[in-house]
Amino acid sequence: MGVNSCKIIELPKINDPRGNLTFIEGGQHVPFDIKRVYYLYDVPGGSERGGHAHKELHQLIVAMSGSFDVLLNDGKEEKRFHLNRSYYGLLVNNMIWRELDNFSSGSVCMVLASNLYDESDYYRNYDEFLNVVNVL
Ligand code: TYD
Repeated sequence: MGVNSCKIIELPKINDPRGNLTFIEGGQHVPFDIKRVYYLYDVPGGSERGGHAHKELHQLIVAMSGSFDVLLNDGKEEKRFHLNRSYYGLLVNNMIWRELDNFSSGSVCMVLASNLYDESDYYRNYDEFLNVVNVL
């Protein structure tokens, strides 16, 4: 639990003069089965994404191209990560508030998720999230 359970995972990288290759297997390189993949792209400069937490969902966030920051907050502690390599993924567990910003131009943020999209899994109100984590 908490931001200290969130960490950078180094993904396999097959170096090749023809171009490098990275792969991610559910349950092997990420500690969950991958049920969904989504990505953010064409992000205008200065944009902020995220601004929510998930009740149950676990995610791995990868900067497929370019760079951006991910700010994690568990209600007590905050940690900022800068993602800029496609062979590093940031594991974000459930009950963590996240904000993404500082997107470089042309950046692509890919997210692997442990479940299908479900709006009822979101906390979109920070005060509501704080109330819940502070009584956990
Ligand atoms: P949201 O999760 O708030 O985006 P972000 O965290 O990147 O800022 O989702 C934005 C919108 O997209 C929201 O209306 C829900 C919709 N959406 C889906 O329909 N399916 C998905 O898998 C995701 C991630 C979002």
